[in-house]
Amino acid sequence: MSKILVTYFSLTGNTKKIAEAIHDSLEGDKTIKPVDEVQELEHYTLIFIGFPVHSHSVPFKIESLLKRIPEGKKIALFSTHGAITGSHLSQEALEHAVVTASKVKVLGTFSCRGKISSKALEVLSKSPEHMTWAEMAPSAQTHPDVGDLEDARSFAKRMMTLSIQ
Ligand SMILES: Cc1cc2nc3c(=O)[nH]c(=O)nc-3n(C[C@H](O)[C@H](O)[C@H](O)COP(=O)(O)O)c2cc1C
Repeated sequence: MSKILVTYFSLTGNTKKIAEAIHDSLEGDKTIKPVDEVQELEHYTLIFIGFPVHSHSVPFKIESLLKRIPEGKKIALFSTHGAITGSHLSQEALEHAVVTASKVKVLGTFSCRGKISSKALEVLSKSPEHMTWAEMAPSAQTHPDVGDLEDARSFAKRMMTLSIQ
């Protein structure tokens, strides 16, 4: 009998929305928890892990979690970001997460855009290394939207199917 964990880190709620859509679309024995509440990982057969892209990379709390997943476990990764979906800027953090989780089986990844809080935007747009994605920020303001949530649900189902093959 499979046991699924959906865990996430979310500062302003975008990644949490995606995590909830994933969790809602799954059937069976499932749990959703913010990353701070995750203790043991051993008895889950599939773990969904979500995070917002921070400074082109993976937030520290998620990086730490990825490093302590037992070897051979099946996981699926999802992220939200301000940069345009499909751009290199939106992909590099997921690529980093996949490399960090090298001892586990990454079944797939999903990402979508998420609105950037005005406070974050104000601070980040002042630093040159964040300019490129910060310029893309205005068009992220309506995300995650209904289409993103639907895509996240389809991703979750695909991952479930893969996990039992
Ligand atoms: C400190 C900080 C750094 C960020 N860095 C990036 C970045 O490098 N690239 C990007 O596309 N979005 C970046 N963002 C935007 C967030 O990834 C995006 O708004 C995300 O959806 C926030 O998710 P949350 O509401 O779950 O925290 C950053 C946001 C913050 C607050």
